[in-house]
Amino acid sequence: MGGAVFVFGVVLLMSFAAEALDNGLALKPTMGWLHWERFMCNTDCKTDPDNCISERLFMQMADVMVKEGWKDSGYEYVCIDDCWSSHQRDAQGRLQADPNRFPNGIKKLADYVHSKGLKLGIYADLGYKTCGGFPGSMGYHEIDAQTFADWDVDLLKYDGCNLDWKLVGEGYMNMSKALNNTGKSIIYSCEWPLYVWPYDKPNYAAIRETCNHWRNYADVYDSWSSVKSILDWSAKYQDIIVPSAGPGGWNDPDMLVIGNFGLSHDQQESQMAMWAIMAAPLFMSNDLRDICPRSKALLQNKYIIAINQDSLGKQGYQTTKGSDFAVWERPLSGNRLAIAVMNTQEIGGPRRFFLAATRGWKLCNPKCNVTLVLPKYHELGVVPLQTDLLLPVNPSGTILLTVTPLSNITSQEYKLHWHH
Ligand SMILES: *[C@@H]1O[C@H](CO)[C@@H](O)[C@H](O)[C@H]1NC(C)=O
Ligand SMILES: *[C@@H]1O[C@H](CO)[C@@H](O)[C@H](O)[C@H]1NC(C)=O
Repeated sequence: MGGAVFVFGVVLLMSFAAEALDNGLALKPTMGWLHWERFMCNTDCKTDPDNCISERLFMQMADVMVKEGWKDSGYEYVCIDDCWSSHQRDAQGRLQADPNRFPNGIKKLADYVHSKGLKLGIYADLGYKTCGGFPGSMGYHEIDAQTFADWDVDLLKYDGCNLDWKLVGEGYMNMSKALNNTGKSIIYSCEWPLYVWPYDKPNYAAIRETCNHWRNYADVYDSWSSVKSILDWSAKYQDIIVPSAGPGGWNDPDMLVIGNFGLSHDQQESQMAMWAIMAAPLFMSNDLRDICPRSKALLQNKYIIAINQDSLGKQGYQTTKGSDFAVWERPLSGNRLAIAVMNTQEIGGPRRFFLAATRGWKLCNPKCNVTLVLPKYHELGVVPLQTDLLLPVNPSGTILLTVTPLSNITSQEYKLHWHH
C-alpha cells in the first residue's frame, strides 16, 4: 500500500546509513561542473587563454552558472581537476597554485566563487605525483588537507595515481581523517575502488565510511562507446555497488559529457536518464560559455534532476537487457518508480517498447499513474495492468518514465521485486 516502496527503501538504507561518512554532506548526489573531460591538462595560457586551466576559466564558469540558470537548477560545485598547481611546493611544504595561471591564488578564487553563491572544488592525489605529474600528497596529506581548509575549499577530488594499490585504501582513509581534523566540512570525492578493482574486490563498507562518492571505473570520454562501457560495467557489478549507495555516499560513474562533440542528442538523453537512475553525482564537463540550447535544456531538465536527487536516495538497477532494449528501474520516494528504457540497437528507426514488459510494471495491479519524462514531458495518466501501450525509443536513445502504483502491493512484494 501507500508506503510500501518507502518502507522497503528505508530498511535498505538503514543498513548503510549508519556507515556513511559522517560529515553531513552529499545527502543527495553532488551537482556541479568539473573541468577534466572538456579542458583536460591544458596549461597553455599563452596561446590558448580561453581554454587553459586558469582562475579565469573557473571565474567565467561561475559567472555563467549564475547567469544561465545552472545554479538555479541545482549545479553548485565549480570544480578544479588536475594540473592547477605549481610543480613545486612552497617553503613550508604546502601546495601552491601555478602563479601564472592562478595569479590571485586559490583562496581568492574560492572567495569569488562563494560570492556567487557557489562552492569550489579542488583536486589532489594520494601518490607521489598526480596523474598529470604534479606534486602528490604522499607524506603531505595533513598539510594538504589544512591548506585546502585554509583556502576555504568545499570539495576535494582525491585521485589514486602513482602509489602501490595495496596502500590506496590507507591513503584514502588518511585523507578522510585529515579533512575531518581540519574541522571544515569538505565533500570528499574518491577513486578508491577504481584503483583496487584490477587486483581485488574493494571493501565498499569501508569506502562508504570514508568517502562521499567514489569512482568505480574508467574515465568517461566524449563518446558513446565510453558511456556504454560505463553502463555495462555498472550493470555487471550492480549487486556489489548499488547497495553501497545512499545519502552521504554515492557511486560515481564520472562526468556528464552532454553538450560536447561526441554524443548525438539521443545519446545525450541516454546519459542524462541513466545518471539519474544511477543516483550519480552530476558533474558536467563541457563549455557552459558555449553550449547548444537542446543540451542545456536537457542538463537543466527539472524532472530528470528530481529523479537524480530523489530523497529516498536509492540507486537503480538494470532489470533486463535483451537484444533490442535495456531496462533500468529505480525506486523513488512517495511510492513511485522511475523506469528508463534504452534502445540498444544502433540501426533502424524508433523501436516500440511494450511498457508492461518492465519488471516494475507488475506493481501496477490494478493500475498505475504514468508520466513520461523523456523524450518530452507528458502525463500519460492512469494506465491499467493489462495495457498494450507501446512506446517508441530511438536508436541509442532512452525514454524515461515515472510510475506510481495505484494498487495494493505489500511491502513483501516490493522486497521480492527489488531482491537480487
Ligand atoms: C568528524 O567526524 C566526526 C565523527 O565521525 C563527526 O561527528 C564530525 O561531524 C566530523 N567533522 C567534520 C568537519 O567532518
Ligand atoms: C597514512 O598516515 C600514516 C600516519 O601519518 C603514515 O605513516 C602512512 O604512511 C600514511 N599512508 C599513506 C598511504 O599515505
